[in-house]
Amino acid sequence: MNRRALLAAPLALGALSACDRFATAQPAPPSVPPLKSVAPFPIGSAVMSGQLDDPAWVALARQQVNQLTPEWEMKMEYILQSPGRMTFDAPDRIADVCAAEGVRLHGHALIWYSQGEQAFAGLDGRAFAAAFDRYIAEVAGRYRGKLVSWDVVNEPIAEDGNGLRDSHWSRALGDDGYMIRAFEQARLADPDAVLFLNDYNLENNPAKGATFLRTVERLLKAGAPIGGLGTQSHLDIEIPAGQITTLIRELGAFGLPVHVSELDASLRRERRGDFRSRVQRLEQQQARVVELAEAFMSLPARQRFAFTAWGLRDSDSWLRRDGRDDGKDQPLLFDDAGQAKPLTAAVAGVFGRG
Ligand code: XIL
Repeated sequence: MNRRALLAAPLALGALSACDRFATAQPAPPSVPPLKSVAPFPIGSAVMSGQLDDPAWVALARQQVNQLTPEWEMKMEYILQSPGRMTFDAPDRIADVCAAEGVRLHGHALIWYSQGEQAFAGLDGRAFAAAFDRYIAEVAGRYRGKLVSWDVVNEPIAEDGNGLRDSHWSRALGDDGYMIRAFEQARLADPDAVLFLNDYNLENNPAKGATFLRTVERLLKAGAPIGGLGTQSHLDIEIPAGQITTLIRELGAFGLPVHVSELDASLRRERRGDFRSRVQRLEQQQARVVELAEAFMSLPARQRFAFTAWGLRDSDSWLRRDGRDDGKDQPLLFDDAGQAKPLTAAVAGVFGRG
């Protein structure tokens, strides 16, 4: 990130005092090179516009990442929050910061089953389709030239991996129809952006991974301009070794860019009677994240779109904001104080081999 913006940051002094505070609270971090300096592909993080006012977050982002994904504020739920008009203040701010800092921006997400039901309620056939097209044209058109890529359709596969999800989009425009239409509209609005189909649990649930692959095949055959495949990688650290490698290899077989788009790996105990120690769970976490990093590194260079974590510090994680959290989860690559941890060193080691 550049010097001018650093000097312009009104809270730069705050950043120094925050560092002092953390320095006394934490043991010296292992010396780990910045991820973006060792990886032969972009390193990304989710961002909320409020984090741009947190000098510690900004300093860490400047050091570590060269791509950002808006965590919430480029979603339909945010943009269509007020009836009759579109809200772009926060996503515009993120886009401006990316431009000023020379950081790539990945758009997330145009069409998602969990959003837009209310805003589109009451629209029938033709009106629904017109509003759908208009939304994509307005949003993707606004950020044309400002971002490199979009998650055009997010999470289309059924939770159990058995077929596609039923949603207001699929009911109005057809199971494959809404996806094909979304990709076509996105391409019209921004012909240069790489257009992604993105989903989660693809490594965790092989049946869901297989359905995703079949869906991609079908949509491509139908002519949908899918330009890349996103695997969110909210990893379940319990899954057997090898499952992540298989999925990444299968995604790679399409020859399209692959985006690890939302990496985190919760330490949370999901099962009763789970007596593993925290150390054991950290080891398990590291093994799975390293497997993902290695599988990603094994893709041909031109297919390694970016490796994105769903937040920088553990304390930034959405999992920390969820009702089941005990306040101690460590799902991300940097600790609460923004320091590297053994997991960070392991990942940097894998990327540094490239
Ligand atoms: C989550 C954000 O982290 C939360 O802040 C928000 O309230 C809900 O969405 N899959 C996705 C992301 O594609 O958009 C989700 O992000 C996490 C799961």
